[in-house]
Amino acid sequence: MHSLLVVMGVVCALVVPSGQVVYPSPNPQETETSFWMDHGRRELTEALQQTPNNNKAKNVILFLGDGMGITAMTAGRILKGQKKGVSGEEENLVWDRFSNMGLLKTYNLDRQVPDSAATATAFLSGVKGNYLTVGVNGKVKSKDCAASLKKENQVSTILKWAQEAGKDTGVVTTAQVTHATPAALYAHSPYRYWQCDSKLKAEGPNALACKDIALQLVEDEPGRSMKVVMGGGRQEMGAGIDPEATKKCERSDGRNLVKEWQQDKASQGKTSAYVTTTGDLKKLNAEGTDYIMGLFGDIHVPYEDMVKVAVRRLKRSDNGFFLMVEGGRIDHGMHHGKPRRALEELVAMEEAVRETLEEVDLQETLVVVTADHSHVMTMNGYPDRGNDIFGVTINEEDVSDHLPYTTLMFTTGEGFNYTWNGTEVIRRNLTGVDTTHKDFVPLAAVPTYPGSETHGGEDVAVYANGPMAHLFHRVHEQTYVAHVMAYASCIGPYTDCNRPFNDHRTRYKHVHHRDHDNDDDDDDERKRKGRKGYGKGSDGYNGAPALKSGGLVVLWCCVMLNKVIMWKTLKDLHPVGRTGVPQPRQEYPEEEEEEEEEEEKGGRVI
Ligand SMILES: *[C@@H]1O[C@H](CO)[C@@H](O)[C@H](O)[C@H]1NC(C)=O
Ligand SMILES: *[C@@H]1O[C@H](CO)[C@@H](O)[C@H](O)[C@H]1NC(C)=O
Ligand SMILES: *[C@@H]1O[C@H](CO)[C@@H](O)[C@H](O)[C@H]1NC(C)=O
Ligand SMILES: [Zn+2]
Repeated sequence: MHSLLVVMGVVCALVVPSGQVVYPSPNPQETETSFWMDHGRRELTEALQQTPNNNKAKNVILFLGDGMGITAMTAGRILKGQKKGVSGEEENLVWDRFSNMGLLKTYNLDRQVPDSAATATAFLSGVKGNYLTVGVNGKVKSKDCAASLKKENQVSTILKWAQEAGKDTGVVTTAQVTHATPAALYAHSPYRYWQCDSKLKAEGPNALACKDIALQLVEDEPGRSMKVVMGGGRQEMGAGIDPEATKKCERSDGRNLVKEWQQDKASQGKTSAYVTTTGDLKKLNAEGTDYIMGLFGDIHVPYEDMVKVAVRRLKRSDNGFFLMVEGGRIDHGMHHGKPRRALEELVAMEEAVRETLEEVDLQETLVVVTADHSHVMTMNGYPDRGNDIFGVTINEEDVSDHLPYTTLMFTTGEGFNYTWNGTEVIRRNLTGVDTTHKDFVPLAAVPTYPGSETHGGEDVAVYANGPMAHLFHRVHEQTYVAHVMAYASCIGPYTDCNRPFNDHRTRYKHVHHRDHDNDDDDDDERKRKGRKGYGKGSDGYNGAPALKSGGLVVLWCCVMLNKVIMWKTLKDLHPVGRTGVPQPRQEYPEEEEEEEEEEEKGGRVI
């Protein structure tokens, strides 16, 4: 049925005279009142059925869309739908159907609008830091090497906590493995661009006492003990110049850190594998290898394959695992002012999340999807429903120059494009221009150097499913993410907990018997620590004394009966799978890959 709709959608996609595609809604019955009433009722039923999953998380997987702000989510959702030939606004990204979500305040200690290094420190360590710093607290300002070397200024991260609990750990990124976001897992540096030794040397004598980030990855804990490290970044590791990368960060100490990493594992009697191509990756015996390092071309990083191999390897661990997966190129596309580049990466990340969910059990795996910060791309005008998300709108009533403009535009960026005709300022005339091209750069209000469109400062969303997902429930500091991940899995600062793995049934019953005063260990634990429970948890919910014993049993029976009825209704109307409505997988023609330069303009690619 669904595929029929898709086919119909593709066939019916209208091409309006300007050459622009308008995709039809997949729901012809949308104009009926009953459509929306049923829609709302189904969603309510689902919401009423939701019970907190208080299990201890054996595994935690954090998906981080670098620069994946709210606008990118909305536009990415529409793109996903339009790739199937439907209008897209009604589409769902897989995390749109996660059980819980919240918003995160992303500011750095010294900036309203943050960078990726200090934000990663926040959501991985639970402590906020200053702009451009990684793995250090607010006592360390950018480039302050001496302050960063003080142990008390260095922060521990979820990576270390997971390893201390005997879990296997890993990171997968489409950026370099020494890039800001992954670096915050394992490194302590006052300046995120010190990824290789030559950058430290160029900085001058004050920086020399510091250790470059690549070296910290292979020599220091917890980086050294990561079982899976995959992404780009051969240069930083001294493992050969990536022909695709522009000269960015090369080792001047002549060390090959990949070789050293391999020798280190061999000296511990462990097996290791170093892969550099998709072919090698696919052939790899992931389960049978202790340590896996994959360093691919900085541009052609095989996203889905990396995630699959990482999950397969980490699932081997009896104590569970922590994995961070970063979609690093959403940010790059945005910095270059190219919405299509950014959103195609977002959709690829979504596919990776979907595939991962098929591999894990949400009763024991907390899955978190979030972003470090937003970008200044906005979605504007009043384009028609189903208008190509990369297309234009002509909005004669509001726009005084009567020229078309794209739905997606930027406030800062390289798309600044105005001319003076002797009388007035003229905006670029987009009539006849293919604005859907992957390298099209829409208009920006403020000109920037190439690749330097800026981050945005508004809140980002966090979506969660699995144990303790319900702890995301309002606007939080970004640091809270690390706390929830650690608390859910009883590690790091929250090691001291008695929650068992996998007893969803007990938890479920417990929630409905909460009104009794027989609090279990869990609540005692929370009370002792003065920690807040969820919803009507231990903090202050006293139940209703008048409803004790007999009355309560009757009430409970009513609630359960109600639930059974609701559940049946829901099943009939809308069979919901573990991760929402399963969507058939679609194949789309691959965009021909082209090199995308990622220059560092005086260190401004952030
Ligand atoms: C500015 O507009 C002109 C056409 O009017 C186009 O050729 C040029 O590529 C545009 N420049 C940028 C930076 O968008
Ligand atoms: C400049 O553009 C405006 C609006 O298109 C037009 O009215 C005016 O005549 C133009 N001036 C010149 C000198 O071309
Ligand atoms: C924009 O370009 C189209 C096609 O070249 C042209 O017909 C139209 O007059 C132009 N609009 C303005 C305001 O220059
Ligand atoms: Zn950035």
